[in-house]
Amino acid sequence: MDLKHVAVRLMKPGNDDELVSFGDEVKPVDSPRKHFEPHIRCTFKSLFGSVRPRRDLRSNHTDRAQFEPGRRAVLCGIAHLVPPFPPMAGRLSNDIFVTGPDNRLIIINVTANMVFEQFYLGCLAHASYLIGDGESHRAVVVDPQRDVEQYLSFAEQHDLRIEYVVLTHLHADFLAGHLELRDRTGAVICLGAEAKAEYPFKGLADGDSIDLGRVRLQALATPGHTPESISLLVFDRDRSDTHPHAVLTGDTLFVGDVGRPDLRVALGWSATSLANRLYDSLQTKLLPLPDDSLVYPAHGAGSLCGKALGNEMFSTIGEQRRWNYALQPMTRDAFVDLVTADQPDAPAYFTHDAVLNAKERPTLEESLATGLTPLTLDQLLERQREGALILDTREPADFAAAHLAGSQNIGLGGQYATWAGTILSPQRPIVIIAEPGREQESAIRLGRIGFDNVVGYLQDGLRSLESRPDLTASIERLSPAIAAERLQAQDSPQLIDVRTPREYAEKHIRGSVNVPLNHLADRVKELAADRPLLIHCAGGYRSSIAASLLSQRGFDRVSELAGGVASWETAGLPLEAGQQER
Ligand SMILES: [Fe+2]
Repeated sequence: MDLKHVAVRLMKPGNDDELVSFGDEVKPVDSPRKHFEPHIRCTFKSLFGSVRPRRDLRSNHTDRAQFEPGRRAVLCGIAHLVPPFPPMAGRLSNDIFVTGPDNRLIIINVTANMVFEQFYLGCLAHASYLIGDGESHRAVVVDPQRDVEQYLSFAEQHDLRIEYVVLTHLHADFLAGHLELRDRTGAVICLGAEAKAEYPFKGLADGDSIDLGRVRLQALATPGHTPESISLLVFDRDRSDTHPHAVLTGDTLFVGDVGRPDLRVALGWSATSLANRLYDSLQTKLLPLPDDSLVYPAHGAGSLCGKALGNEMFSTIGEQRRWNYALQPMTRDAFVDLVTADQPDAPAYFTHDAVLNAKERPTLEESLATGLTPLTLDQLLERQREGALILDTREPADFAAAHLAGSQNIGLGGQYATWAGTILSPQRPIVIIAEPGREQESAIRLGRIGFDNVVGYLQDGLRSLESRPDLTASIERLSPAIAAERLQAQDSPQLIDVRTPREYAEKHIRGSVNVPLNHLADRVKELAADRPLLIHCAGGYRSSIAASLLSQRGFDRVSELAGGVASWETAGLPLEAGQQER
């Protein structure tokens, strides 16, 4: 990481006006916690990727770092402070340290040859990495997303050549960009030695290394989440040849969780046998690593590759040994029971992507070349008659106000790709209606999960419909007060809660029926055909997906609760807890 990307401003403890100079030794002062904020102001723009610092690290200060631009810095440690603690910032040998979120002391090395960058994609809760050697100018990309421009421009900015692209496993939840990077840079694709794939690749067996010069990666076979899963030890040889700086754990170990072992069941693997292998991988390969080895997983909170992923995007082996529920002392059988139970439903596209990641297939660029064709309204309607699905990617409120009758809403503002992969089919042609200027984003984000079935988009978006009110539909969004009134009235609507059973059990509106959105299409028969339907979710994103799905299936009296359970609660209306009776 280049320090010019890191904005750090360290204030002398007890003195808000005086900057800590680089090299100053800063003594902790006796200061209560409430005085913490003014003393240390920092934003870790690059270091933390898109993971926002917590409130106590947010700041208006965006001043340049007090370091020479162009020097590299790399996160090299996390220590824990027991509150109440005095604010601290300063220098330790070649490292700077600042107090970070969750009482962590973040230690950054500013003289590293190593380049280490985490890229985080919120929509898929997916982390990928570029690791390079500033001396040899060679680099590796690990678990790239399919649109690879950011890795190429980062490598160029840092004068690095991408020579290898490694997949820690054949991912199920996104289509990786290994073929794209291979074609653009000539990089060699590396997979775990147990992997089978159509394209040529170098198999990394346990102990195999990728040597970049001052930086070395070493594979650990860590099967469990999938049979071919590997983790990668990262050695910063300027620091130590034998003590790993970090471990990229793929989906074997997350911050606060471990990878689920049941995603290969559809491909003939048993979840129990993979859970047993996961136990061995964690116990014999990852847990014996030094406590201070940094842990960098392939996913963060919101990912469906586990059930309880934490918000932090990096950790240490020591932290995980202490806090991760799945790493607490327990028998092998207890572990197997624990990790095979209560996993969230895997979206329908997961098997499609797991298979596709092993195939030679068109690159994203090739697929967009045919998919991003502007269509007139007449051409779109013809496609619709031929069976294409019309996907409207605007925000739910805009969709509710006016949309093409029979179109499906999935807004770009939420977990768009995951819901598209859950609701849509990768085989059925898709025509996009987007906010003008966001057509390409709509298609790229589908491409990231291997949906290359976009056949065009509506030119000028919804404006093309202005002269065709006969084709325009809307969905009523009711305020909580009006919704509550209607629920009491004669001909009251059936109230459908499309959140997960877990959310429902926590709190729900009395009398609502829980039909989770991912099961809605299969369970439409359970809905009242002779009554209006009032749909709601937590905040209004999923209810719009659900309402448009039901309209397509012939339900013509569908409305939504605007703002979902959140607005209901804010309005002071009653909620209750408990499971759905079935
Ligand atoms: Fe995975």
